[in-house]
Amino acid sequence: MTTKIDAPTFRRALGSFTTGVTVVTTHGEDGNDYGLTANSFNSVSMDPPMVLWSLGKKSSSLPAFQTTGHFAVHILAADQEHISNQFAKSGADKFAGCTVERGHGQVPLLDGCSARFECRVVHRYEGGDHVIFVGEVLNFNSFERPPLVFHGGNYGMVMKKTDDTDCSRSDIGDGWLGFLLARAYYQMLQPVRSNLASHGLRDIDYNILTVLSMGDGRTVAEVDRLVSITGLRVTDDDIRKLAERDLVVLDDDGGRENMVRFTDAGRSYAIQLLAIGKAAESDAEQDLDYRETQVVKLLLKRIIRTTGAMLPEHWQKEQFWRGDHLWMEPDRSDAS
Ligand SMILES: Cc1cc2nc3c(=O)[nH]c(=O)nc-3n(C[C@H](O)[C@H](O)[C@H](O)COP(=O)(O)O)c2cc1C
Repeated sequence: MTTKIDAPTFRRALGSFTTGVTVVTTHGEDGNDYGLTANSFNSVSMDPPMVLWSLGKKSSSLPAFQTTGHFAVHILAADQEHISNQFAKSGADKFAGCTVERGHGQVPLLDGCSARFECRVVHRYEGGDHVIFVGEVLNFNSFERPPLVFHGGNYGMVMKKTDDTDCSRSDIGDGWLGFLLARAYYQMLQPVRSNLASHGLRDIDYNILTVLSMGDGRTVAEVDRLVSITGLRVTDDDIRKLAERDLVVLDDDGGRENMVRFTDAGRSYAIQLLAIGKAAESDAEQDLDYRETQVVKLLLKRIIRTTGAMLPEHWQKEQFWRGDHLWMEPDRSDAS
């Protein structure tokens, strides 16, 4: 007698088991290549080296895998989500755009993965609506690329869990997000502040220069309105002091509608401050790998989006960020 279970609930429960993602390939007796995305892969034995995976009986690849003597398992890398999607689509040309080498039994081998196992089929077992394949590993490669992860129906990536993530044994404030954000911000700002201090400048001066660096030529009132997100307010006197230092010029017709602009010296000092901030960012990222940096930025962006909902219009980035800003956009060409 089979137990009656609710299929979606069962699938959800199984989805709480986090796996990698593989593509299993074979060369059919008909001379065609076959492959599919599978997360049912697992290790079985060290001696002899054996692995297993299971194939749904509805798969169009079933006849090929039932008769083949060999298959290859590719553990996908974190940047191969598109390969996973491509090999999960029935009817599509799954190998389109893939560079293929040939392995044991002419099996197609894909590149760019984390690890690859070439296998000889040693057992096929009935497993309900799946067939379980056990293969002896004839050859394998480990390419040391970070793996793609599958959990609860979504792709993910691996992040090392260290003692730092245990908020229960925290020092004062360590479990409070606001404290962590502020502390990280002030620590990263320290080199900028030291430089400002060495020029006899203050936080408010930095804020004014920063606002101009996002688009030059604004009224004093606008500079004040934008800076006020920090809790500080800009007065005519603050602008005048920066003008005396030859960092800004103020169109002088005596009202608050006067325009504030960089002088050449002011623009080049703002660029210097940006470079110091960028160097501090590189230092801060030293202990993070590429994926961790991406995760930190992603999570901060989500917090900014959530908490930004109640901000007035003029603090929305698109309202004050202009084409003549001095900020270099991050280079995305190395995304992997
Ligand atoms: C992350 C992920 C894991 C999957 N794991 C398996 C699996 O272990 N076994 C399986 O038969 N299908 C699995 N599938 C579904 C197959 O990839 C899909 O049904 C198959 O590629 C359909 O094409 P086919 O009919 O040509 O085989 C998985 C799909 C995804 C997205």
